[in-house]
Amino acid sequence: MSLAPLLIASGLGRTYRRGAEEVVALADVSFRLEPGELVVLTGPSGSGKTTLLNILAGWETPDTGQLAWGERGTTVTAPGWDLLAIAPQRLGLLPELTIGENVELPLRLAGGEDRAVRAQRLETALEAFGIAHLAHRMPSEVSLGEQQRTALARALVGVPRLLLADEPTGHQDAAWASGVMDGLRKAAAAGSAVLVATHDEEIIAQAPRRLRLRDGRLIA
Ligand SMILES: Nc1ncnc2c1ncn2[C@@H]1O[C@H](COP(=O)(O)OP(=O)(O)OP(=O)(O)O)[C@@H](O)[C@H]1O
Ligand SMILES: [Mg+2]
Repeated sequence: MSLAPLLIASGLGRTYRRGAEEVVALADVSFRLEPGELVVLTGPSGSGKTTLLNILAGWETPDTGQLAWGERGTTVTAPGWDLLAIAPQRLGLLPELTIGENVELPLRLAGGEDRAVRAQRLETALEAFGIAHLAHRMPSEVSLGEQQRTALARALVGVPRLLLADEPTGHQDAAWASGVMDGLRKAAAAGSAVLVATHDEEIIAQAPRRLRLRDGRLIA
């Protein structure tokens, strides 16, 4: 493990307001992530897990606190695919692209590498999540579990420094729940830090490190 943390989150807070109604979704959340570690984020429904992941992804702005990205510091406001990728709870596949094109998207956006390297990475990601035979289909033509594994393959294909996975086994059967976790463990072993939000007791029990939220606050 390197000496510099990958990410330091300090005092993150987010309150949703609509008229007189206020929901404190996150309050004073601080933690750090090291390169290549696998961390499970748990807590009851509504405790703030997705809100926290969305803030880390740059999709939402916190009302308080800040994020520092290792040596890149606090200047990163919209992390690129090389730094961070997310498999969102609502999946977010592009309906007009095939399964294969969805997974390949981060590689295309990043550019750079030659076509043979890209093709190899794409194939590895599709095979890791058992969707290689579905690459030519549209998202509407595969099952919800297969769509979720597509979102995971898309997040992993670019080998990000930090991978966020929001309820990644939510639509999987028991065999694929453990297949998905194998994929995430391999990503961590290859150097990506992985933060997994989950209710799955089996995953929580096996986790090397846990962050637990209750009412928007981290508890011991
Ligand atoms: N856009 C929004 N406007 C108002 N309240 C919101 C909004 N998004 C989330 N919330 C509220 O913020 C709180 C935290 O929601 P969040 O989605 O982060 O929970 P969660 O831990 O991911 O839950 P789950 O396990 O059900 O996915 C909840 O009380 C939720 O109702
Ligand atoms: Mg959630």
